[in-house]
Amino acid sequence: MSDNENEPVSLSRRSFFRASFRASAGGAALIAGQGALAKAPDQAKPLDARAPVPITLRVNQRTYEMKVDVRTSLLDTLREHLQLTGTKKGCDHGQCGACTVMINGQTVASCLTLAVTAQGQTIRTIEGLAPNDTELHPLQAAFIMHDAFQCGYCTSGQIMAGLQCIESGLATSPESIREAMSGNLCRCAAYPNIVAAIADAASMMED
Ligand code: FES
Ligand code: FES
Repeated sequence: MSDNENEPVSLSRRSFFRASFRASAGGAALIAGQGALAKAPDQAKPLDARAPVPITLRVNQRTYEMKVDVRTSLLDTLREHLQLTGTKKGCDHGQCGACTVMINGQTVASCLTLAVTAQGQTIRTIEGLAPNDTELHPLQAAFIMHDAFQCGYCTSGQIMAGLQCIESGLATSPESIREAMSGNLCRCAAYPNIVAAIADAASMMED
């Protein structure tokens, strides 16, 4: 191999080797960089999606602070974290209405509502209806008067849905009440008594 830089072929060969070396060095650095990038996620502390996050809920005019897994439903939060077990878990799939609560005056299936999304909202549950420890809400009293339950498992959801039916002005006829209550199932089939209780409470609450 000639070192004469005036020799076109040698020049070309030397340039080629220099360029190859630079390219190789650059490539090695690039590969090393990619390796570092590839390693970065492994070296970073992994996020734990199950790590509890702090949340604040306003339920029945009380403020509660707690930490929950972000995937926790409002239903489980009420029952397991706040011990508000009046709200029942039936299907846990949004199909039975047993878990009905109100958020900002609208009924929701608390089993389908994430607790973290209920922050900053006004939540009302069955425990928040009675005015005090010795009196019942008129709708609760009407359910007892009309024998509107048997096992009682669906009852808190029925009462919350019935309350919205009344407050929305839909308790104007048995047909209208049945339509408004169609998302709340009762395996004991207490439907006629439930409708009667809601109609009665609606007229009591008007007075
Ligand atoms: S438990 Fe929520 S709808 Fe059945
Ligand atoms: S009273 Fe038993 S499910 Fe409704």
